[in-house]
Amino acid sequence: MSEAYIVTSLRTPGCRRRKGAFAQTRPESLLKTVIEALMEKTPNVEKKDVEDILLGCAFPEAEQGLNIGRVMAQMCGFPDSTCGATVNRFCSSGLEAIALQAMRIRSGWCDVAIGGGIESMTIVPMGGNMPRPHPDWAKENPDVYISMGATAENVANRYNITREMQDEFGYHSQMKAINAKQNGLYKEIVPTPAVKYVEKEDGSWEQKTWLQDFDDGIRESTTLEGMAKLRPAFAANGSVTAGNSSQTTDGAAVTLVMSEEAVKKFDVKPIAKLKYYTVAGVRADEMGVGPAYAIPKILKMADMKIDDFGVIEVNEAFASQAIYCLQQLGLYEKREQWLSDSDKRRINVNGGAIALGHPLGCTGAKLCAQVMTEMQERGAKYGLESMCIGGGMGAAAIFELCD
Ligand SMILES: CC(C)(COP(=O)(O)OP(=O)(O)OC[C@H]1O[C@@H](n2cnc3c(N)ncnc32)[C@H](O)[C@@H]1OP(=O)(O)O)[C@@H](O)C(=O)NCCC(=O)NCCS
Repeated sequence: MSEAYIVTSLRTPGCRRRKGAFAQTRPESLLKTVIEALMEKTPNVEKKDVEDILLGCAFPEAEQGLNIGRVMAQMCGFPDSTCGATVNRFCSSGLEAIALQAMRIRSGWCDVAIGGGIESMTIVPMGGNMPRPHPDWAKENPDVYISMGATAENVANRYNITREMQDEFGYHSQMKAINAKQNGLYKEIVPTPAVKYVEKEDGSWEQKTWLQDFDDGIRESTTLEGMAKLRPAFAANGSVTAGNSSQTTDGAAVTLVMSEEAVKKFDVKPIAKLKYYTVAGVRADEMGVGPAYAIPKILKMADMKIDDFGVIEVNEAFASQAIYCLQQLGLYEKREQWLSDSDKRRINVNGGAIALGHPLGCTGAKLCAQVMTEMQERGAKYGLESMCIGGGMGAAAIFELCD
């Protein structure tokens, strides 16, 4: 089978739902910025060369609905010949989109394609605008519909992940992100126009625009003491709080994927190959355990060991589930691999979704962009990306750095 090359991988900053920079910025605008930046960063490739744009979205409706893939192809000025589609696998949608493009390329069906993801959690709330669980079936089978916070509490309770462990993990996520922000390590970020409508004294409205170039959920004031005071967010006596959960966030990310022939034809220098992608199903009411199944599955497919990876991104939907998954992989106890003050760390090295946010359908593509930066920075031969998925699944992908 031929190879699929990641040539360029970029993201907008992640910004807080409602309170953040993109609260009044339409999802199409976020996508337009990153797609145009992707094409500018790959000047040998013209828009007419891109066959297809596949975008992940967890709640593909309203402003991010219709068929956002095709809408963006047209809105960004690609010719009519560039197709577009939307894919939904909840939290891995963005990675699914990149992997599907890679599979088409590996099978010889396509040469140049874009995969990515979008979620404005401000504009389309989690659950969508009109959730309609099946009334009869859901009475006996609610698990596939329950809140993600409830599944995080289940993981904490069933597997003894204490509040202290979750807060500590969340704290280090914030500290790693603060360090990365201060040192300009998020090289995959595209400064993105944000808009805000401000009422003037005469009652008319003015549109203010600025370039947003950082993740605005990073909280410099975080202390363990402050985190310990937060009230549980999902259960009266629970342990999952705003400080140890992923933030709800707006953001977009895209990746240009190419065949070997296209890499040669357009004379581009690819970053990495997408070698493997898989998904694994788990119980819906503890969906957060997904990576504990998806990662061993992909390691077996690739005949690799967890120690082979210089960079590992396990999405922090919640600290409880991330800790459980790391425990199952034998990594949680090896604290030097994830602590913020360790120079041996290789897990969520620049912070995870607790600090940077988890814009659902975008997250898989956002993490791909981060993994590409981190692999290049560290010269890591292999990178691993994984996340849990609402409804009870896990996904994982393996990247190999190009020479
Ligand atoms: C947990 C959750 C409900 C909290 O929502 P929220 O109240 O809007 O969260 P915020 O991030 O705005 O934080 C609320 C407050 O907690 C406090 N807080 C949050 N993080 C903190 C930290 N690290 N240290 C101290 N205080 C903190 C702050 O007072 C903050 O308010 P402020 O930013 O206006 O000062 C929400 O983040 C959530 O649902 N997360 C999970 C999303 C999800 O399920 N995703 C899918 C996973 S599969």
